Amino acid sequence: MQPRVTTSTLMKMKQEGKKITALTAYDFPFARMLDQAGIDMILVGDSLGMVVQGKENTLSVTMDEIVYHTAMVSRGCARALVVGDMPFMSYQGSLEAAVENAGRFLKEAGAAAVKLEGGADVCPVITAVARAGIPVQAHIGLTPQSVHQMGGFKVQRDEKRLLKDAQEVEAAGAFSVVLEGIPSPISAKITQTLKIPTIGIGAGPRCDGQILVMHDMLGINDRFLPKFVKKYADLSAEARKGLAAYIDEVQQGGFPSDEYAYK
Ligand code: KIV
Repeated sequence: MQPRVTTSTLMKMKQEGKKITALTAYDFPFARMLDQAGIDMILVGDSLGMVVQGKENTLSVTMDEIVYHTAMVSRGCARALVVGDMPFMSYQGSLEAAVENAGRFLKEAGAAAVKLEGGADVCPVITAVARAGIPVQAHIGLTPQSVHQMGGFKVQRDEKRLLKDAQEVEAAGAFSVVLEGIPSPISAKITQTLKIPTIGIGAGPRCDGQILVMHDMLGINDRFLPKFVKKYADLSAEARKGLAAYIDEVQQGGFPSDEYAYK
């Protein structure tokens, strides 16, 4: 059995110039596939709201829902680092609530770390959660939970602010930072400046690692895809083909044949 990926493994990979691979997952079978394929980190993202629950944004995802999905993912993982994504309003109310909610991912769902969105503004939360012994991944740039404040899902270009956010989340105790929707030259500069690993999504090729939403890159999500998504498979088309064949065979009496019947 291969050793578990830990936050220290990710730090070592950055130091050795080895790229970190990451994807989202939301259930046992896909977590198992990702883990066996050799992915380093699995994020149980609040993108759950969009790609699994069919909502327009991530805002309505609850702690109970994401803890439930994180537990399924953890059961499917033997090697990858499992990170639970703190949903909107689970860490903004008070530091006590943030620590308690972060703890649920480890106590109830088997995760090894949590992620939360925000830069300099959430540093007190990062510090409080990290001091409780819970590794925290920060997430700056395009932060989907602030969709209404940002006026939509928009690329973030304020270099001075992004660099400050990145430096402050590192100083606050984050073990890593997700850079989302940031032009390549800015994410490259952040990656060079920080000691902790950067994980990019829509942030160009020079981050320490990359993450995508699994439903986008495997073609399970057949709705809008942003420019930065590369489709590595078309599972939706494959599934539709299989479903059409099943319906046709049942209707025509081709299935079940004797081969699939008990004698
Ligand atoms: O919720 C999510 O899936 C995320 C990734 C896109 C980084 O936050």
